[in-house]
Amino acid sequence: MLVLGVESSCDETGAALVDETGRVLADLVQSQVHVHAPYGGVVPELASRDHLRNIEPVVRSALAEGRVALSEVDGVAVTNRPGLVGALLVGVQAAKGMAWAARKPLVGVDHLMGHVLAAFLRRGEGDAPVPRFPFVCLLASGGHTAIYRVDGPLAGAVSELGATRDDAAGEAFDKVAKLLGLGYPGGPRVDRLAAAGDPSRVKLSAPMASSDSPEMSFSGIKTQVSRRVQEGRVRTEADVADVCAAFQAAVTGVLAKKTVAAALREGVKDVVLGGGVAANRELRRRMADLAAPSGIRVSVPPIASCTDNAAMIAYAGAMRLSRGEADGWDLVATSRTALERTTRKGRGRR
Ligand code: KG4
Ligand code: ZN
Repeated sequence: MLVLGVESSCDETGAALVDETGRVLADLVQSQVHVHAPYGGVVPELASRDHLRNIEPVVRSALAEGRVALSEVDGVAVTNRPGLVGALLVGVQAAKGMAWAARKPLVGVDHLMGHVLAAFLRRGEGDAPVPRFPFVCLLASGGHTAIYRVDGPLAGAVSELGATRDDAAGEAFDKVAKLLGLGYPGGPRVDRLAAAGDPSRVKLSAPMASSDSPEMSFSGIKTQVSRRVQEGRVRTEADVADVCAAFQAAVTGVLAKKTVAAALREGVKDVVLGGGVAANRELRRRMADLAAPSGIRVSVPPIASCTDNAAMIAYAGAMRLSRGEADGWDLVATSRTALERTTRKGRGRR
């Protein structure tokens, strides 16, 4: 089964061809970083307009790279939630048009399911070991941070063990980078600078680190960095590197510790990392160090599979289609995930 995947939930326009074994025939991502960089974050209206410009050439290039005609695919999968609704609409409407014209089944995919299943993608090099169900997944991206128990490849088999109560981990990386004047997106820049810093020179307390709860919080640590900057204590390049190192150590320490603790509590032997923050080198190192003594195997997908891409959407769609699931032409875009949520965000409604 060959599936064409389409992704447009945030600031990446993607199209990919993947089969039900996870083999990636083509995977194209057109980043909008240059569009949003001057504003220090994603501007939803600009994202929608840029997706509209890019969706057709990106899909065309993916089909050309895979040497496949639209008539040869077995279905069209598209991210329809969660994300920026105006951005999602572009992908959903493009996918509907293609599925309609080529008389193929259409399947909507929850973006988070794409991240959860990304470790199954086979790119031919740098592939993570194929995870075995059940596994625990740490999904840490710019929009979401949660620890899931995953019993199967459909959304109904995924339960949230704990999530952030406020900012996502990637959002914290981006906000701290902005405070330090490092530009957008911040994660990779903090990662790079942290390597040259000394974490012991800056005291930053890790959010909810000591608690046994799998729930997390990342807004407090950003406030600590902000105060430090306002007090004029971050002046030299060395100061910036030290703050990056201390911040990264605190955040990745919490993520790794809580994920391994969740796996032990659930009695599962496989842990999977997903989302853009899984590209972080210290997080990868800490996960490996913590998991090995407990006999836990960690699957870390290559970076192209961790950050937003359409291959993971095509694969998650193939899982639905191969089980007889499909959606109608009434498929809608929505900002909320379909995955079960148990952690209360802030003090308001979930
Ligand atoms: O999964 P993703 O590409 O998009 C979302 O669905 O949000 O994740 C993007 C996030 C951004 O916040 C970015 O700063 C972060 O992942 N990120 C990193 C690294 N590379 C990307 N965070 C920490 N270290 C990295 N190396
Ligand atoms: Zn994502």
